[in-house]
Amino acid sequence: MNKELIDIQEITNFQSRSEEFCPMDWYKKMLIKDPVNYHEKTDTWNVFKYKDVKMVLSKHEFFSSVGKRSTTAVGANNKEGEIPEKINIAGTDPPEHQKSRSLLSAAFTPRSLKIWEPRIQQIANKLIDDIEANSTVDIVQQFSSLFPTMVMADLIGVPSTDSLQYKRWVDVLFQPYVKGKEQEIDEKKQIAAREYFEYLYPLVVQKHSNPSDDIITDLINVELDGEKFTDDEIVRTTMLLLGAGIETTGHMISSMFYSLLYDDTTLYKQLRNNMDLVPKAVEEMLRYRFNISKRERFVKQDNNLLGVELKKGDVVIAWMSAANMDEEMFENPFELNIHRPNNKKHLTFGNGPHFCLGAPLARLELNIALKTFLQKFSHIEPVEFFNLEENLTESAPGQSLTYLPLKAFIDQKNLAVISNRD
Ligand code: HEM
Repeated sequence: MNKELIDIQEITNFQSRSEEFCPMDWYKKMLIKDPVNYHEKTDTWNVFKYKDVKMVLSKHEFFSSVGKRSTTAVGANNKEGEIPEKINIAGTDPPEHQKSRSLLSAAFTPRSLKIWEPRIQQIANKLIDDIEANSTVDIVQQFSSLFPTMVMADLIGVPSTDSLQYKRWVDVLFQPYVKGKEQEIDEKKQIAAREYFEYLYPLVVQKHSNPSDDIITDLINVELDGEKFTDDEIVRTTMLLLGAGIETTGHMISSMFYSLLYDDTTLYKQLRNNMDLVPKAVEEMLRYRFNISKRERFVKQDNNLLGVELKKGDVVIAWMSAANMDEEMFENPFELNIHRPNNKKHLTFGNGPHFCLGAPLARLELNIALKTFLQKFSHIEPVEFFNLEENLTESAPGQSLTYLPLKAFIDQKNLAVISNRD
């Protein structure tokens, strides 16, 4: 934990976990009353409107990613968990940033996604097949927390027999820091980082003589201006990808099911009747239900681009999830509407030079997850007496569901489709 952590709770003053999970009222208030807010206790500027958030994220000449404070803490604080200097992608500005990004992009080419799609589909099929029909399912434990980890383990090149052990390391590595328990958590993370490193390093070495279609092999092959990754850097690069890609996607899958159960109960049927609507539904849920997407930037030169005097070094927090609720951009923004023409304009994946490198992969995973579930189950129902407040936990994306029960039903016609699938 090298950077000083900014205490977001001081800024939002949410009174409960569920308020943080559904922060729409706070966003509404800030968007109307205080769209460019200076918060004295944390010494941060907070911006909420779509045009301001987009500007802060994209105008890197004025708003830098290089700074000593952060709104999120993930990873481990030892040499095994450290991000290699070469790909310090989130903490640099153009032009240096371009180099890290090009190196990492090797693992995210459209070619890779095409090759990966059937493998991702197979993982989804396996997990969904294991869900018992006409019963109560905890979608978090049985699906959304497993799926992105198994996908990343497979794409990285970890043998599937080891994926559960792999998940245990990942869970510890990206466990959020809880106030008062920082040291204890840090120690656990350091152990996990060391074990992870010792496990993956020999796999990387083997891949040199045994290449395959996976991220380790791509990272071995990539070369830019004569520079290549060392094996040690490859292991640590996979950790960065895990940190960026697992919790975010898992959180989003759980939230999609929450939306289907509680935000719009007609949606499941609509999607079952027309699966072509799935990509639109995914985008709208990314806009509406990734509720606490925010990034910090550091003022690089004095300016008043936000209508206030900003001084070099000031911290600005861009609240993307609030920008997604700005009525100047989205009509009736506090409604979940999958037919909204411009819902893909959400800022959940950021904007500008740091736009999420994994967005095509995340979108593919979310679409496959939802579609595969819809294909098997004819309808779903919430479980009575589900208590949201008791089933949330602090995570990098905000409050994430730890448990989400639902009843999943299947009709006979569907059984034939499932049993014909390989
Ligand atoms: C729903 C899922 C996801 C969300 C909401 C998300 C969100 C974001 C956001 C907001 C940023 C921009 C950060 C900034 O401006 O400072 C970002 C960057 C990034 N994301 Fe994602 N992400 C997701 C999934 C993934 C996945 C699956 C991967 C890859 C495995 C990934 C890899 C990255 C990387 C490498 C960056 C850094 C890009 C750069 O700084 O140039 N993300 N992500």
